[in-house]
Amino acid sequence: MADAYEQLLDATIQHLEDLKSHGVRHVAVSPETLRALAQPPATGTPASGPARAERQKPAGSETGAPQPVAEQTALLALPGETVPSQSPPLDPQAKAVAFAALRERALACVKCPHLASSRKNVAFGVGSIDAQLMFVGEAPGADEDEQGEPFVGKAGQLLTKIIQATGLSRADVYIANILKCRPDTPGQSAGNRKPTSGEMATCIPYLHEQIDLIRPKVIVALGATAVEGLLGKTIGITKLRGTWKTYRGTPLMPTYHPAYLLRNQAMSEKRKVWEDMLAVMEKLEMPITEKQRNYFLKA
Ligand code: URA
Repeated sequence: MADAYEQLLDATIQHLEDLKSHGVRHVAVSPETLRALAQPPATGTPASGPARAERQKPAGSETGAPQPVAEQTALLALPGETVPSQSPPLDPQAKAVAFAALRERALACVKCPHLASSRKNVAFGVGSIDAQLMFVGEAPGADEDEQGEPFVGKAGQLLTKIIQATGLSRADVYIANILKCRPDTPGQSAGNRKPTSGEMATCIPYLHEQIDLIRPKVIVALGATAVEGLLGKTIGITKLRGTWKTYRGTPLMPTYHPAYLLRNQAMSEKRKVWEDMLAVMEKLEMPITEKQRNYFLKA
């Protein structure tokens, strides 16, 4: 059908633009796929035509197991990527199944052998898969590795307080990281390190798929690494925070990482994060009380 074909074409163009904005200059496309794109099918949807035969395995399919997400969301996925969220939303049951399958793949992932061997648990993500609001952090720390859940340590407790200050709970939102495994620190008994760009590039397809399935209305990127992973921007978070960006059509608010607020206890910094959250609440058309609006006004 022409409409379906147009939608797929739009999604493909958007996807290629996203890749380009992430610095990708070449993509692998088979001649069959190019032929399929050049010839709108006269009957049936593209999903039943030649393009279907050319579907790529989604990222993380290193086990070779069947991938339900690919069946419904990655008709024209390129290696390591999934199509952006213009594809039709899944029905709730298919979404839950696809999300569970994605989680299974991530939990079994060994694409970074050094992290797979050092981790205790994969911290895949936590919260509602129907959340309107999604928080993205950097990578699990020791507590998250121990519990297999993002943001459960000290920074996580502060994030939980910030979420609760908006009137929401952790269960209402979805929380994930750029990296699902704790970055290893060989020879060190404590401490964290920033993920390498190679680790980020390897792991980010899982986050892309999480976002594509959840389809939050707003994403909050916590800290510079989250912004870098999602937008490919390496500009300082001080410059970026508080300014709306877009991740594949979804409004994205960069703000400080809660760990930064723990290191820098200045009221002025907490206030900036709260102002960013007020902007997020406004974007989501959440009710904002006078008390919430004035939390830091006297600071
Ligand atoms: N910092 C992060 O970025 N993510 C976590 O899950 C915990 C701490």
